[in-house]
Amino acid sequence: MRQLFPVGNRPDGVDLAAVYAPPAGRHVRANFVVSTDGATTVGGVSSGLSSDADRDLFHVLRSLCDVVLVGATTARRENYGGARSYDGRPPVPVVVVSRSLDLDPGARLFTDTTVRPWVLTVASAPADRRAALSAVAHVVDAGEHSVDIPAALDLLADAGLDHVLCEGGPHLLSDVVAAGALDDLCLSVAPVLAGGAGDRLLAGMPLMPPVPLRIEHVLEDSGTLFLRLSTVHG
Ligand SMILES: NC(=O)c1ccc[n+]([C@@H]2O[C@H](COP(=O)([O-])OP(=O)(O)OC[C@H]3O[C@@H](n4cnc5c(N)ncnc54)[C@H](OP(=O)(O)O)[C@@H]3O)[C@@H](O)[C@H]2O)c1
Repeated sequence: MRQLFPVGNRPDGVDLAAVYAPPAGRHVRANFVVSTDGATTVGGVSSGLSSDADRDLFHVLRSLCDVVLVGATTARRENYGGARSYDGRPPVPVVVVSRSLDLDPGARLFTDTTVRPWVLTVASAPADRRAALSAVAHVVDAGEHSVDIPAALDLLADAGLDHVLCEGGPHLLSDVVAAGALDDLCLSVAPVLAGGAGDRLLAGMPLMPPVPLRIEHVLEDSGTLFLRLSTVHG
């Protein structure tokens, strides 16, 4: 067993933009915070697990991506806002993945933004909702009944959006991992036990065989562990 970091090696002593810089070319990263017992929410949202350092990292990761990819349930429950500028970089679009298109065109995501968001959806989505959302977002099909993740990532890359930051939730991340598309997982482990029976990091079907990960670094701040793990592609 070896010590990966001296306790007290806090992220504020580390150049986060440097140690989290994605490689050149297409890259898909996920960022999640979990309790020590694996919960992804407290009271239905993730804010109860987060810390100042975790919020700092959230902003740094946003400053390093070209696009934020999020599932519709997370956007609805967390009342997602639109694009923001981080560290002086131009704001990047938020892309919501939705089959139902049950998204309010008046939601902050669509109104409180300087960059037009995207909605990635399916050909079978309801026509009336598609028409309403088309007034406030780029509504793009990437599948018949389910958004095909590789096809969706190709569409983003064709628009020059190579560095994708997936902010969840567990159902969307499951689809991304099952498609073999995840390169990098930035996982914050909060020093709390949350209990309950909510979703873990992945909410989809069991992955057979499990996907191996390689640890890139571990940082710590005030008891929260910050793991950067990369997917070992077969
Ligand atoms: N701890 C953390 O870091 C963290 C991060 C993110 C979220 N969360 C929490 O996770 C919860 C939500 O997660 P969730 O797993 O239930 O939902 P989610 O992944 O955020 O969203 C699921 C929804 O996204 C759409 N979707 C996902 N994959 C799709 C596909 N391949 N094709 C078409 N549509 C697709 C569907 O939208 P429609 O229903 O519109 O069809 C689906 O119902 C929230 O409570 C949030 O607070 C925690």
